[in-house]
Parts: sequence; structure tokens; C-alpha cells
Amino acid sequence: MKTAIVTGAGSGIGRAIAHRLAEDGCAVAVLDLNSDSAGRVAGEIGEKGNTAAAFGGVDVSDRGQVDAAIQQIRDTLGPPAVLVNNAGITGFKKFLNISDEVWDRTLAINLSGPFYCCQAVVPDMVEAGWGRIVNISSSSAQGGQQFMAHYVASKAGLIGMTKSLALELGPSGITVNTIPPGFVDTPMLRNSEEHGLLGGTIEQHADRTPVRRPGRPEDIAAACSFLCSDEAGYITGQIVGVNGGRNT
Ligand SMILES: NC(=O)c1ccc[n+]([C@@H]2O[C@H](COP(=O)([O-])OP(=O)(O)OC[C@H]3O[C@@H](n4cnc5c(N)ncnc54)[C@H](O)[C@@H]3O)[C@@H](O)[C@H]2O)c1
Repeated sequence: MKTAIVTGAGSGIGRAIAHRLAEDGCAVAVLDLNSDSAGRVAGEIGEKGNTAAAFGGVDVSDRGQVDAAIQQIRDTLGPPAVLVNNAGITGFKKFLNISDEVWDRTLAINLSGPFYCCQAVVPDMVEAGWGRIVNISSSSAQGGQQFMAHYVASKAGLIGMTKSLALELGPSGITVNTIPPGFVDTPMLRNSEEHGLLGGTIEQHADRTPVRRPGRPEDIAAACSFLCSDEAGYITGQIVGVNGGRNT
């Protein structure tokens, strides 16, 4: 059984990915800053008869916490073969109102977090001669997004790291890809809608989306499942958009 780590797996897209990888036969480490939600999701997966363990209270922007959690995962579930860097925070601010603190925190979670997680698991993957890394970026980094310069910069950085790492790790049997979701119905999106930050309702946006519906977390999980499979071994360094046709 392969060990898969999903960060930010306590909610939304990460939760769906954790469920899906467990259904695919992985032992899933449900890692999240929020201990309650990590425990809840690991419990849900266990109730379905699949394998998961919760690693809550882990802040991906803290290298010490990441290293300690991944050592615990290695000890309890086995060496990681799959890593999905999904944990992230969003943010809306006019460019001139982005404080140093907000800029730094956004970059720390959305970009340094995946950097720390990759550095922690790559030695295991190199040793096994096999590995799958999927970074959840954002469709906003493909076209830019007003009032989100900090968020978009962090996600564009993640796309760049994905491409470079794919070139470096390909010879070791490790693929590295990124899925930039677009408009997926999760607590993060609902929260943005409630605060009037979407420039319309989710339903209004769905009407302007070619497939005429918002994305579902399961849409991202399905693509992620494929990228983590053996069959996807010739796909690396790619930006695999899952966005209902909003970006082509
Ligand atoms: N929902 C969308 O439409 C959308 C669009 C583009 C990109 N994304 C990206 O997809 C990913 C998941 O988003 P979502 O919509 O499911 O969000 P969400 O807010 O529902 O879930 C995010 C999870 O990450 C966890 N998290 C936050 N900071 C953390 C940290 N420092 N360390 C560990 N865990 C942390 C949260 O506790 C939460 O469980 C994010 O990276 C987000 O930027 C989402």
C-alpha cells in the first residue's frame, strides 16, 4: 500500500483528494493545521473501510513542524510515495493595501509550505525510484486576478517550482505536476462569496462558465488521482487545468 500525504486535507478540495486516494488504495496521511477537521476526515475515510491517519495541528509554513509530521507519517504509515500540496489560503486586497505581513504569510503557506513538504519527501521517493507530486495552484495564476497580487504571485511561484522540479526529478522516476483549479465550490469559495469578493454570486459565475456549473472538489480529486497513478508516468511538468473551460 502506497503512502500518500495530502496537505490541507481537512476541508474542500484536499478532503476530496484524501478520500479519492484512499479509495485508490493508498494509506492517506490527512495533514491539516486544523486538528478537528483532520481527525474528522481521517475518521470518514476509515468508516468507508479505507486507510487514513490524521496529522492535525501542522502548519505547512513551519519547516520544523513539517519535518516532524513527515517523520511521524514515515513511522506510522510508511515512506511517502505520493505528495499532494493542497493547503493554501486566499486573500483579496487592493495592491497598495497588501501589508508586508499579509504578503509574507501568503507566500509562506502557499509557496514555502510546498517547498518544505517536497524537500522532506523527495529523499524517500528517490530511494524508491518512484514518486508522484501534485501541487494545487490556481487558475488565477494563469491569467492574473485583480486584488489578489499576493495570492497569484504565490501560486505562480508554485507553478514555476513544479516545472523545475519535474525536470530535476524525472530521471528518478518522480513526476511533478500542477492542477490549477478554477471556481470550485468549497468553504473557501463560499466564504469569499459571503464577503462579496467574487464580483457576483457563485451561481452567476456558473452561468458564465462553459460547462455551466461550479467545480466540485471531486473534479479536482479525479484529475489528481490520475496524475498519481502508475499510468501517468509520462506526464510531468504539466499544468492540468480543471476549470470547466474558464481558462483554455
Ligand atoms: N476553491 C477554489 O475555487 C480554488 C480555486 C483555485 C485554487 N484553490 C486552491 O485549492 C486549495 C484548497 O482550497 P479549498 O477551496 O479546498 O480551501 P479550504 O479553505 O476549504 O481548505 C483549505 C485547507 O487548508 C488548511 N490550511 C490552511 N492553512 C494551512 C497551513 N498553514 N498548514 C496546513 N493546513 C492549512 C485549512 O485548515 C483547510 O482545511 C488551496 O491551495 C486553494 O488556494 C481553490
